[in-house]
Amino acid sequence: MSSAQYRSLKGMQDILPPDIYLWQKVEQTAQRIFSVYGFQEIRLPVMESTSVFTRSIGENTDIVEKEMYTFTDKGARSVSLRPEGTASVVRSYVENSLYNLPAPQKFYYSGPMFRYERPQSGRFRQFYQIGVEAFGDPGAKLDAEVIAMLALLLSFLGLEGVSVQINSIGCEVCRPGYREALITFFSAKREGLCPDCLRRYDKNPLRILDCKASGCIELRQGAPRITDHICGDCRTHFEKLQSLLSLLKVSFSLNPEMVRGLDYYTRTTFEVTSQGLGAQNAVAAGGRYDRLVREFGGPETPAVGFALGIERVVELLKKAAPHAAPVPLVFIASIGDKAGSESLGIAQQLRQRGLWVETGDPSGSLKSQMRRADRLGARYVFIIGDEELLSGRLKWKGLDGSGQGELLFSEIEAFLTALVEK
Ligand code: HAM
Repeated sequence: MSSAQYRSLKGMQDILPPDIYLWQKVEQTAQRIFSVYGFQEIRLPVMESTSVFTRSIGENTDIVEKEMYTFTDKGARSVSLRPEGTASVVRSYVENSLYNLPAPQKFYYSGPMFRYERPQSGRFRQFYQIGVEAFGDPGAKLDAEVIAMLALLLSFLGLEGVSVQINSIGCEVCRPGYREALITFFSAKREGLCPDCLRRYDKNPLRILDCKASGCIELRQGAPRITDHICGDCRTHFEKLQSLLSLLKVSFSLNPEMVRGLDYYTRTTFEVTSQGLGAQNAVAAGGRYDRLVREFGGPETPAVGFALGIERVVELLKKAAPHAAPVPLVFIASIGDKAGSESLGIAQQLRQRGLWVETGDPSGSLKSQMRRADRLGARYVFIIGDEELLSGRLKWKGLDGSGQGELLFSEIEAFLTALVEK
């Protein structure tokens, strides 16, 4: 057991083989799917001025009030590790005038996010998101495409038992009326609210709907629903989204209780949950945020996006099916110095062809080299000793039971190419 000083921090974990292969699968599949929808990758800093997040996510949200890794840097600036990606993307969008590109501008990103939450299964303090953000189109078509793209990604990954829930949380026209309705509803129940919600009651009563305290969850039973208060334009947008999702054959359900834990959303919000996860069952979530670019000093620009939690997707993949980690195609065992050098040359030649080759320690016994080949799971072993050097023929053996034989050195490439193509 390592000493506490040298252990990773609570809620932060190492990602090692074989799990890493699932991570790569998720990242590569996402990259493939996103690119056919025209999303381009961007890479942004993991740290920003604190105001980038407070301004956008909202002063009265759990993330900003309790969960940010915020500190003062050596230049006396308040900086924060990013708790999510959208705020940074919008900051970058405005800073780099990306609105000058043809609309809609579509970006994706992936990387670590940081939230000082209470760690539990599926919840980490450093976690990874793959996210997308699309700018410049106010229509429900873009919401539908983004949600359909997420559904396609999850189906390409082979995830089953996931469900898409959607909601509309209105806009600046209808939200004030809803806010009033909430204030009226909670006015007689104020005593029972948690201290956070008591503060939120005046400033941002919508946040009470997102509080995890059991007392608040109980008190909000029967609270007015946003979908009963949205204006005509928001309703039209929401109905259009539903008809487009049906057209695209994306199954979804309506969840009028979903408000999301971030303040920047307007109109559409959505979440993908899985029965396969415990309490932390949201695999991905997102929504529309039509005011945010403006708030960052850019031109009026509607936008929509989502982020997917990689740890949670990997957890589901692990449950779904045992995943075979990649294995070397060939292990070259060699006996003696000369054969060792020859095997190195062959390995180099094959690696140049993109084949995974491992070599044994020529000073070790054949038995120990074979044991290593076995442990690595190599599909084939080549054996080279003095005799093979003399005859120009090596011995091969298929560790998967596919036979054994001899092979001229000059035939190696053709032999392996045929195997790979099989
Ligand atoms: P979010 O709902 O805060 O949204 O996070 C999105 C996803 O990140 C969650 O559904 C979950 O899978 C994962 N996640 C969040 N917190 C943790 C955690 N502590 N540990 C493990 N996984 C976690 C956003 O972050 C928005 N930026 C999404 C968005 C993009 N909206 C518009 N564009």
